[in-house]
Amino acid sequence: MLYPKPLFFLILENTVLYNFDEIIDRHHTGSLKWHYTDDTIALWVADMDFRAAQPILKTIERVVHHGILGYTKPTEALYQAIINWHGSRYGLALDKQHILFSHGVIPSLALMMRIFTEAGDAVLVNDPIYMPFMNKVRDNGRRLILSPLTEAEGRYQLDLADIEAKIIEHEVKLYLLCNPHNPGGRVWTVDELEALLVICKKHDVAIVSDEIHQDLTLSGHKFMPFLRVAKGYEHKVVSITSMTKTFNVAGIKSSMIFAKDEALIKKISQQQRLSDEHDLNLFAYEVMASAYEQGGEWLAQVLTYIEANIELVCRFLEQHLPNVKVMRPEASYLIWLDCSAYGQDDQTLYDQLRDAKVELSAGIQYGDEGHLRMRLNVACPKALLIEGLNRIYLAFSDIKSLSGR
Ligand SMILES: Cc1ncc(COP(=O)(O)O)c(C=O)c1O
Repeated sequence: MLYPKPLFFLILENTVLYNFDEIIDRHHTGSLKWHYTDDTIALWVADMDFRAAQPILKTIERVVHHGILGYTKPTEALYQAIINWHGSRYGLALDKQHILFSHGVIPSLALMMRIFTEAGDAVLVNDPIYMPFMNKVRDNGRRLILSPLTEAEGRYQLDLADIEAKIIEHEVKLYLLCNPHNPGGRVWTVDELEALLVICKKHDVAIVSDEIHQDLTLSGHKFMPFLRVAKGYEHKVVSITSMTKTFNVAGIKSSMIFAKDEALIKKISQQQRLSDEHDLNLFAYEVMASAYEQGGEWLAQVLTYIEANIELVCRFLEQHLPNVKVMRPEASYLIWLDCSAYGQDDQTLYDQLRDAKVELSAGIQYGDEGHLRMRLNVACPKALLIEGLNRIYLAFSDIKSLSGR
């Protein structure tokens, strides 16, 4: 394979132009995504194959150069950077006391189960959903109640009638919302969020909103933090988000919990203190501050690149594999593909792609609604994506399309 020359970035009149075409070998780095011993192309787990933003890398170099890696507290500058980012981009008014740090969005979801529910209580999630949502409910001894998303005009919708019926039937105590949704990439609208709020308020259900994909909202869509629509119900609402997806620093495990009700904030911090979970490591704080202060330019450029990759996938599939139905994401770099024209068995579908040396995430992991779906990660250099698409094409040309096209 011919690799583009390794130009990391160009500095043009004080603007860094990032080169996302650069292919960086991630084998033998402990990367979860690139764990293969062969030449499989990894288009699955949600991280990007792009170098992180220059200000972030410089920050880490500065810390290393300083040489002392001692106990560290979040600085006032860090709080201000978080407040400014969320205020200016999403109109979310936060004060320092509304922000709690945590080690990951999923650990925080698990913590929220201890805050809002007791063992045996019912917790509602949509199907399909990022699989830890379901696992953590079960692992924590809560009852998992699923409300399938419905599909209309190529995008997922919340089935509000089903949600309310399940809340009543199972006496649901907590709703774990994914906003934007993974998989499928829906950015829930204000109307949808308000309708959900009305139902949850009516039945006294707490809402925890996972907003990790917020900053990856694509052109033409507007992300609304759930806390903004939750006025008057703040004692039952928490948002959890992170810089890790936004800035491709998932290896620096960290996240933030936002809550606006004083008693609720106290309860969450007390729970965190029980197992000393509230402090992050030095690199997490430093990277977070530099990302929110100076990472905006990198983010804008990476989103432009991702949108071009999404377009490329859509055109390729339309032309060469028209029986693969594409759900175009409104947020994130993850494309949800309906491959039901190519088989009836999830494992065979996945294996067929693996045999063609390309790995996508098998949709069935995300719940029954993921049957015969695959999730494709396009956050990689274009050359890799094209090679991956060619392999998908070869894999599917070996499988007879059921519709006969
Ligand atoms: C919706 C969603 N929540 C949470 C996570 C993971 O968050 P963390 O690594 O902070 O636990 C992901 C990762 O893909 C995700 O898609």
